[in-house]
Amino acid sequence: MSHQTPATDRPLTTALAEAAGTASHAPSVHNTQPWRWKVLPDSLELRVVRDRQLTATDPEGRLLAISCGTALHHARVALAAEGWTPVVERLPDPAQPDLLARLTGFRHTGADPDAMHMVQCMQVRHTDRRPVSEEPVPAAALSEIDRAATREGVNLQVLDDDQKLQLATAAQHAAAVAAEDPQLREELAYWTSRAGTGAGLPPEVLPEQAPRTTVPARDFGRPGSLPVGPGHDRAAAYGILWGAEDEPDSWLRAGEGLSAAWLTATRLGVSLVPLSGVVEVEGTRQVLRQLLSGLGFPYIALRLGIADPTHAGPPHTPRLDTAQTVDTSEVRDQLS
Ligand SMILES: Cc1cc2nc3c(=O)[nH]c(=O)nc-3n(C[C@H](O)[C@H](O)[C@H](O)COP(=O)(O)O)c2cc1C
Repeated sequence: MSHQTPATDRPLTTALAEAAGTASHAPSVHNTQPWRWKVLPDSLELRVVRDRQLTATDPEGRLLAISCGTALHHARVALAAEGWTPVVERLPDPAQPDLLARLTGFRHTGADPDAMHMVQCMQVRHTDRRPVSEEPVPAAALSEIDRAATREGVNLQVLDDDQKLQLATAAQHAAAVAAEDPQLREELAYWTSRAGTGAGLPPEVLPEQAPRTTVPARDFGRPGSLPVGPGHDRAAAYGILWGAEDEPDSWLRAGEGLSAAWLTATRLGVSLVPLSGVVEVEGTRQVLRQLLSGLGFPYIALRLGIADPTHAGPPHTPRLDTAQTVDTSEVRDQLS
């Protein structure tokens, strides 16, 4: 395949390897990072890693594909920052369902300053599970976050007060189901005891006690060491990311939309926390579907708020070594 490389820029293959590495900043359910990139001379492939699927919590692979979608969006933005625009083929080969995306046909379109800013946002974005401050999220910020998701083909419905109470009830029910199921408890215990491996959730990012909020946050089954303070979620906005289909390629796009929404929220100083417990349980997923008036399928719920500005938030959650998520074996001699 032909591609033009301006003399001043790095070769495409180097940009592909770097973009795949940058994508390790992407958020994933329980920090499972269930993806592996293959760097080829002029294309990039994204595959799911089934070993890191939450088989009890997420048997259909909805959260798995959403997680891989966030990595796909991160890589696309990192490439745009370097001036590279690919053709993105999602689930390109029915015979290889684990091949989630192939990025090919690169054109050099000039470095995109907005994408460069988003790459900086990737480096600071994180999940802050503390209660939010009393400051409401400005309506203009919510609209901008909504537009970012919409550009990726995903809708964001912001809930009114009544719907927020319905979400709270659904989240309580989902938490009770999860607490009673030994397999779900075991899976959660595994991913919250992976210290030193670069995957899973260390105690520093988990609240030391359950925050007193209307919509309960996920119960990770063990206390962490993150001080939560007296805050609430009164000023938080809640939303549902949704779309017209409930299939693997729409889950992948949901992840791209989640990443776009989250990076935009980060740029605007808005804290975003996904609430996936409510989509993991069939019954509560149906409740969310009713909240959408049956118009489409819920992918994930979100809490949006302004973080407490007076206390330090959690540290960054560790990541796997790039060697575990990026395969450069076919291009090693081309990387500078
Ligand atoms: C699909 C998906 C589902 C998630 N569900 C939850 C959740 O229910 N509760 C929560 O506190 N965090 C949730 N998260 C956040 C992840 O735990 C977090 O992204 C991961 O641990 C990496 O940490 P970081 O976001 O701080 O980089 C979710 C993230 C993704 C992508």
